[in-house]
This record gives sequence, structure tokens and C-alpha cells, in this order.
Amino acid sequence: MFRRLKNCHNVDDLRLLAKQRLPGPIFHYIDGAADDEVTYRRNTSAFDDCDLVPNVLAGVENIDMSVTVLGQKLDMPIFCSPTALQRLFHHDGERAVAKAAEKYGTMFGVSALGTVSLSEIGETISTPKLFQFYFHKDRGLNDAMVERAQEAGFNALALTVDTITGGNRERDLYTGFTSPPKLTLRSLMSFAVHPGWALNYFFREKFELAELKDFIQKGSNIAISIGDYFAEMLDQSMNWADAEQLRAKWSGPFCLKGIMSVADAQKAVDIGADAIMVSNHGGRQLDGSRSPFDQISEISDAVGDKVDVILDGGVRRGTHVLKAIAAGAKACSGGRMYLYSLAAAGQPGVEKALGNLRTEIERDMKLLGVTNISQINRTMLRYR
Ligand code: FNR
Ligand code: LAC
Repeated sequence: MFRRLKNCHNVDDLRLLAKQRLPGPIFHYIDGAADDEVTYRRNTSAFDDCDLVPNVLAGVENIDMSVTVLGQKLDMPIFCSPTALQRLFHHDGERAVAKAAEKYGTMFGVSALGTVSLSEIGETISTPKLFQFYFHKDRGLNDAMVERAQEAGFNALALTVDTITGGNRERDLYTGFTSPPKLTLRSLMSFAVHPGWALNYFFREKFELAELKDFIQKGSNIAISIGDYFAEMLDQSMNWADAEQLRAKWSGPFCLKGIMSVADAQKAVDIGADAIMVSNHGGRQLDGSRSPFDQISEISDAVGDKVDVILDGGVRRGTHVLKAIAAGAKACSGGRMYLYSLAAAGQPGVEKALGNLRTEIERDMKLLGVTNISQINRTMLRYR
């Protein structure tokens, strides 16, 4: 069946549209995860192991789904997690996601491996912006990135801590995915059968990693796999003292992305983090790792009164967001929930994805019998 954006009612529909539009290697880079992808599947299926218990007759004509995380007021309780290489998925890349996030009043997380400069994003939108930082071996590069994020008016900084080496993404091994894409006979064939994507990629603005290109060639204009990028470019000696120093350097709200244990959540509090993203990188790093939803209650019980606990990953439905909040999360974030739609249709696609989720959350809050996010609590959740 040939799908159209207006008939995409959920993340799965948008995923299928993305699959039609993208060359195989690029689709599988977004869609794939580590090893047997057990964690990737569990991130979403974990939500099915519990049920919501609604209350009725609650007068639900006016719904307020806003939340405040990292000092930023968001009009909806889910925001766009930082994801790399967006102009590879759609020629507008981060520009499209930024404007769609602004339209829905939610936060846009921009990856260190972004393809539009932080300064341009800063000029484009006035809504909350989070810069995601990768700790590179090159200290000059690290300092420059933090300075540029500050100058561009980014509101918060997130240090990703779960990519100390590359995850084993076997789909990328099979397809030969690299950044930028390597031009082999096989990849050219997959581009040829997706001419819409290929014309945009080859004849529009040249691909580059906007914040890294002045410091490194690999990844920006010399092809490298993401696994090799992590292993070669990022500093595997990174430890809590480095995280604490980065925290001290950044004057605004600070977050650690990729915390999974209570012990680490407590250390995040100790170094002065304002938030943690409970995340396994969308199942792309340690397969067999627990899912964010399975971990959220114990982490929020331990540190929820000291930092904002954000559930990152697996969210595909409005009810997933409500279950996460009932279990203790302050807000959620997600990658693929907007990436498929970016690939499928650029800015209108991301607007459709965020719009679908917003509509679901609003309807689900009414059906659950709450008018405000603060009314959602654990009494509304039962594990089977
Ligand atoms: C990511 N993610 C990610 N995280 C990060 O800190 N920096 C990055 O550059 C990227 N890049 C990236 C690319 C792609 C294609 C994906 C799918 C993911 C991880 C991302 O921020 C988030 O943690 C996951 O996407 C959450 O899982 P879901 O929502 O995709 O299930
Ligand atoms: C990924 C990166 C770049 O997950 O974080 O592919």
C-alpha cells in the first residue's frame, strides 16, 4: 500500500512511510539497534506489562499537559531527544525538527553530531533548546562546542554517558552504513531506487557535521561508521570528575543522558545535575540492558525530589507517556517517534508526529480522568 502523510495516524504508520522514502542503509541506521535488539523491543513492550486505572466524572473539558523540566516550561510532556545526522534523513534536517518543536512548544534536543549549526538553530527558534554533548578526546573541540551552545542561547546541556564505545549495530554492518554515506555500487543502487531522497542529498547543501567540521574530517566528509566514530573520537577515560567539570563550566541547567542505575542517579545529584535522562540510547548500545520504563520507578523514588527524572526511549503512544509519568517520570523524550516522520516528510511530517502524540495525550488524559499532569500518580497504574 502506498502511504500518505495524512493517513499516518501513529508512529508505526510514519515508520512505514520512512521505509518507503529512504535508501535501506539510512532507514536501518534509524530503525536498528544493538545485537539482537532485545532491549530495543523491550523499551516499548515494557509499557504493556501494566495497565492504567482510570477515574471518571472528573470534569475534563480543559486539559493542561504542560510540564517544567530543566527549568523550561514545555507545552506537552514529551520532547525531541537529540539525534545525529538529521540532514541525511531529510534535506531540511534540524531546521524541520526545530520549527515543528517550536510549533508544539516543546524542547528540541540538538546532537553534537548535528548537521545544522547551533547558531542557526538559535536564530530560528525561541522555544527551549537542549544541546547534547559528546566528550571527545580533542579538548579544544569540547570547549568550542560548549561555548557555541552558550552563545547560540541554548537553555540546557546534556552530556551523553552511554556511548563510551560503539554498540554492535549489526544492521549497519550488513548495509555498510557510514557517515557520510560511502559511495559503493551497492549504496548507489539503493540511492537509485529512491531518487527523491538521492536528488535532494546530492544536489542540495553539502552534508557536514556543523559543529565538528572545523576540528575533524571523519564523520563530516570522510566516511566512518558510527561505531568507529565512538571508539576513535570519544574519550573512553571519561569519568565522574570529567562530568563534574563540565557541569561547572556550563552555567545553565545540566543533564546526564543515559543513566540507568540508582547508584549513578545519586552520583548525578552529587555532581550538581539538574536532570537525568533514564535511557539506554534507544537500545542502540548495550543490548540486554533494562528498559527505561522498567527502571523509572526505582530511580524516581531515589532521586525524583532532587532532579528531574526524564524517561527517554520506547515511547510510541500517548498512553506510554502517561504510564511513564504515573510511574514517576517528570516528562518523556524520544528519538524515533519524530525521526521516522522527519524522513517521511520533513517539517510537516514532524508536525504530524508531534500533533498525533499531543492529540493522544489529551484524549488519554480525559479518559484517565485528569486535567493536569500533576494529578497523574502511581495509584493509576497496576502491574499485571
Ligand atoms: C540517537 N540517539 C542519540 N543520542 C545522543 O545522545 N546523541 C546522538 O547523536 C544520538 N543520535 C541518534 C540517532 C538515531 C538515528 C537514533 C534513533 C537515536 C539516541 C536518542 O537520543 C534517544 O536516546 C533514543 O532515540 C530513544 O529511543 P527511541 O525514542 O528512539 O525509542
Ligand atoms: C547513534 C548516535 C550517533 O545512536 O548517538 O547513532
